[in-house]
Amino acid sequence: MGNKIYTVAILGVGGRGGDTYGQLLKTERERFQIVSLCDIRPERLTRFGEILGVDGSGLFADEKEFFLKKRADLLVIATQDADHIRHARKAFELGYDILLEKPITDKRAECEELLATQRKYGGKALVCHVLRYAPAFLKAAEIIDSGEIGSLVAINALERVSFWHQAHSYVRGNWRTEKTAAPMILAKCCHDLDLLQWYARSACKSVSSVGGLTFFTAENAPSDSAERCVDCKRVDNCPYSAKRIYVTNWEEMGRVADIWPHNIIAPAPLTKESLQKAIETGPYGRCVFGCDNDVVDHQIVTMEFENGVKAELTMTAFTRDGGRRYHFFGTYGELILDMQEKRLRVNKYSSKADCYEIKIDELVENGYGHGGGDKRLIDSLYDMLEGRTASETSLQASVESHLIGICAEESRKKGGEKISIRI
Ligand SMILES: NC(=O)c1ccc[n+]([C@@H]2O[C@H](COP(=O)([O-])OP(=O)(O)OC[C@H]3O[C@@H](n4cnc5c(N)ncnc54)[C@H](O)[C@@H]3O)[C@@H](O)[C@H]2O)c1
Repeated sequence: MGNKIYTVAILGVGGRGGDTYGQLLKTERERFQIVSLCDIRPERLTRFGEILGVDGSGLFADEKEFFLKKRADLLVIATQDADHIRHARKAFELGYDILLEKPITDKRAECEELLATQRKYGGKALVCHVLRYAPAFLKAAEIIDSGEIGSLVAINALERVSFWHQAHSYVRGNWRTEKTAAPMILAKCCHDLDLLQWYARSACKSVSSVGGLTFFTAENAPSDSAERCVDCKRVDNCPYSAKRIYVTNWEEMGRVADIWPHNIIAPAPLTKESLQKAIETGPYGRCVFGCDNDVVDHQIVTMEFENGVKAELTMTAFTRDGGRRYHFFGTYGELILDMQEKRLRVNKYSSKADCYEIKIDELVENGYGHGGGDKRLIDSLYDMLEGRTASETSLQASVESHLIGICAEESRKKGGEKISIRI
């Protein structure tokens, strides 16, 4: 007898739902069959209907109609941050198992309520903490757990957002305001909080945090700047210029027909004209000092875990390139995981001869996003549906790491006050 093939519905066929999970699940014909899509944007619905092979009867432009009944075994929820809780609640009530994009919510009460709904209806859930499935991050856990660096005392984590990614997502784009997206420490760093809790092998006891929005504000606009980059004298020199980020860089990269983040501002296949039009008329052409953004551009979180391990996480827009750097301090050695330098370094205190390096590229067996994590996540999803393993990034575990972020934000708003996670 062959594998069970699980039917799949996808709610939100954007970057994650369509391009990532849709495309991955489509290649997994032995295990998954996509039968239904729902998206409020008709052009995406039509495009992904064709790409993913879903005919008109399985396409829905309105969630109310989509949720009239259960349409598949599994529901992929890849809508925007603020919609996740509503969609996950409804999905459990209808009896779906779910693949849920992060963040779950930025409210403690909603976290608890969703866990109660899951207990009531019994659906399985995997939250998309993709880095937990990525080879480099798994290898770091393996090294720590092996005892090679002794007992873990503390972790220093750096999330380099990078100047242009901040401008794209957190100043001009979808994650710029808490009115529609989660606070940035959850939106950008819930993976880090999840990883830190996992590496510490302990629940977090208390947290404190400072940070804010210092640079991307009206007060910092140069006196000769304009509302739109195309009308600004600095259009060719400002590093945040929309022309530089979306047109010049795209041309320098070889005019790729379908590439992030350019495909967020104009539909693929991309052309110079479509990108130019997007920056002349759309939200991504606005001056970074004149947007309706309110999320932070830097934040530092300090954590103490119940087993005594301490961790500090710095999230900052102000780096040239992206990529995480995790420094683990152990009693007999240190471990440095650097995604920018693409290496893991083990420095043992015993002797220099015992120190070594691992190249991350050699660990990554395939070319999927997040360093192999997205594909492994799909494998883990199948195992969870089959009941072979519990989800590694279960709703319960993910709620616990979300609470770190929720409390960190509370602390930041209270000027850095130490907050107990468990009341
Ligand atoms: N796990 C990760 O590493 C990771 C990476 C990037 C994004 N994300 C998360 O994934 C989610 C989606 O991000 P994205 O980059 O794909 O965004 P996106 O805007 O490209 O896609 C979201 C899609 O949902 C659709 N949509 C919005 N409201 C809807 C509704 N009520 N009903 C149906 N469809 C609706 C939109 O039209 C859009 O096509 C976000 O919450 C984001 O934070 C996670």
